[in-house]
Amino acid sequence: MANILDGIKLSKQIKQEIKEEVTEYVQKGHRPPHLSALLVGENGASVTYVDNKIKDCHAVGFRSSLVKLPETVTEEELLQEIKKLNEDDSLDGFIVQLPLPRHIDQEKIIMAIKPSKDVDGFHPENFGKMALEMEGFLPATPFGIMIMLERNHIPTQGKDVVVIGRSRIVGRPMSILMSRKGEPGDATVTLTHSRTKDLEEYTKKADIVITALGVPHFLKASMIKEGAVVVDVGITRVEDPTRERGFYLAGDVDYPEVFEKASWITPVPGGVGPMTRAMLLKNTMLAYTRKFL
Ligand code: GUN
Repeated sequence: MANILDGIKLSKQIKQEIKEEVTEYVQKGHRPPHLSALLVGENGASVTYVDNKIKDCHAVGFRSSLVKLPETVTEEELLQEIKKLNEDDSLDGFIVQLPLPRHIDQEKIIMAIKPSKDVDGFHPENFGKMALEMEGFLPATPFGIMIMLERNHIPTQGKDVVVIGRSRIVGRPMSILMSRKGEPGDATVTLTHSRTKDLEEYTKKADIVITALGVPHFLKASMIKEGAVVVDVGITRVEDPTRERGFYLAGDVDYPEVFEKASWITPVPGGVGPMTRAMLLKNTMLAYTRKFL
């Protein structure tokens, strides 16, 4: 039976810490931190994510603002909006919710975000700083996983870590963070993906498996070793007409069976997701406090 990596409880604690820090700054007469989100179109999951990010801001005493643009917005118009946000001194950081419509070049948009306001850590400058162990913004999901491991005192030094999935938001940065010097970190990392020949050969030997694949119930108990730490980043909407929302959220892990074999496991929902949300706040706080240095 595994111990649960409870992302809800830990994220509440982190949000409380942030709230107290904000209160101190405001009591000293400073304006509160301010995060903005840019949302293009009406993708269901994206709308939910952005709504949650705004709720989180209010919960910790941040100001928030939302820029909503139609699905039909041109790349040029979107770049203009980003320019405004880059230049707005009342704003500490902002995010452009992904995915963007297909007619917009995502790379071009990310490149246009001012690195000092890129609280998602998606700009190549921040990504490069992460890889070089320089201070910058870490992408929220991998950052949240690092904090979760740290606060639960899960050792990573010298451990064999297998990351499944090489996305720019999760898998690849995760593999870099775990291989960096320090604790958590100092691990021996294998980054696996869709072209990996025999995935099981790697996962079976891993002390820590981090899966960010988006295939519901993919990781079975037979694919891990006894006592492994399992971190499930998958969060896929699976259609289910018996539920009010019409879907349920499924992780990449076959939870009931892996739970019996792992030493630690993240539930879905309630594991990595809330930590991701908390880390966006942490990055915004970082962007804000840098002004006082
Ligand atoms: N789409 C899915 N996850 C994320 C995220 O963390 N940030 C942004 N901007 N878009 C996303």
